[in-house]
Order: sequence, then structure tokens, then C-alpha cells
Amino acid sequence: MGDLNYCVVVFFLYNKNKISDKKGDQVKTQQKGLRKVDIGCKSITDNVFRLISNDCFLFTAGNLKKWNTMTAGWGEFGYLWNKYIVTGFVRPQRYTYRFIEKNKYFTFCFFEKKYEKALLFCGEHSGRDYDKAKKTGLTPVPTKLGNVYFKEACLVIECRKIYYQDLDPKKFLDRSIKALYRKHDYHRMYIGEIINCYMK
Ligand SMILES: Cc1cc2nc3c(=O)[nH]c(=O)nc-3n(C[C@H](O)[C@H](O)[C@H](O)COP(=O)(O)O)c2cc1C
Repeated sequence: MGDLNYCVVVFFLYNKNKISDKKGDQVKTQQKGLRKVDIGCKSITDNVFRLISNDCFLFTAGNLKKWNTMTAGWGEFGYLWNKYIVTGFVRPQRYTYRFIEKNKYFTFCFFEKKYEKALLFCGEHSGRDYDKAKKTGLTPVPTKLGNVYFKEACLVIECRKIYYQDLDPKKFLDRSIKALYRKHDYHRMYIGEIINCYMK
């Protein structure tokens, strides 16, 4: 990631598919079936550091027929290549990894505290062994583009994958980072252009 010159934690929505003013202001959704309000990121009042690190989120890829989700606690919001982006980090052994690889899009879903148990389940069990929707009671629903998010989420960010890269241990400048990879299972980072953003 060292070569990438981008600034993180700047969180504005650029949504050229919609009637956006391109400045991240609130716009009305034209998407049928979604009960959420289509928002520009200026309308998001949550602290993005807290959203990522304290609350965690569900990182999901696939369509309603074939999808998987996992809890993620590492990520970034940013502005790069003139696009509003998020970055997610996925270890290769995750079942979700193959769904992210196969699909052009992914979603980040954030939840209220009352869904903590559901997020814990999705972070401690694999979709290889469990139906995570059944086990948690979360309801998978498709966006207009067919990508899965969860009805119970309070904030949904839908992204188009635009870049990936495997973390290179040779480039870890801080020793403490290496300790996080005893199995050498270096994350693959995915940068997604934010194309839609919904809020309850
Ligand atoms: C709080 C929390 C945060 C996590 N963050 C990440 C993460 O950022 N990246 C990652 O690869 N795994 C992360 N995990 C682990 C995966 O969620 C976990 O291995 C999950 O069972 C994978 O599910 P899957 O095999 O269905 O993809 C986290 C787990 C928890 C509990």
C-alpha cells in the first residue's frame, strides 16, 4: 500500500449513476424496492473511524442466489483517483474471498449495536459451514444491481471493485504488523468505488 498516494477517511459520495450533484449532498433514490434513503456522504454523521474499528461491518459479495458475508474490522474510507472509495482487507482463506474475487461489486453494511451478536457470528463462523442468514436472522436483499446487502443494516455502501493488491510483507515498515501474520496469510486489499450509499 506504500506506493499508493491517497488520503483515507475522506468520505464523500460520488454517484454518477444517479441524480447526484457530485458533491456528496443528499439525493432522492430512484431505486424501486429499496426503502432506504439514498444519501450523499455529507449526510453521514457517524465517525468513520468508529464505524470501522468499533462497530465493524459485514463485507458481502454475490447475488441473492449465491452470496457470502463476513465480519470485517479493518478498512478505509478515502478519495483516490478522483473517486470516493472504500478499502477492505480479506485473508485468502475466507470463504468470502472467493465471492469477492468472482464478483464485480461488493457491499459494506453497518449495523446498530443490537446486531452485535449477528456480526460476531459472521466473524467466527464460515459460510462454508453455516447459512449465516438463517443463523443470525439477518435478511439478505438485492440492490438494483443485484448485489446483496442486509435489510437490517443502518448504512449500506455499494461498491464497484476497481483495484486489488496482496499485502507484501517486505514492505511492512512497522515490526508489529508482521506479528499479525503468523500464518503468512497476507490480506488481499480491495478498493471499491462507492457507487451507491443507503441509510435507514
Ligand atoms: C470483529 C471481527 C473483525 C474481523 N475483521 C476481518 C477483516 O477485516 N478481514 C478478514 O479477512 N477477516 C476478518 N475477520 C474474520 C472473518 O470475519 C472470519 O474469519 C469469518 O468467519 C470468515 O467467514 P467466511 O469464511 O464465511 O468468509 C474478523 C472477525 C471479527 C470477529
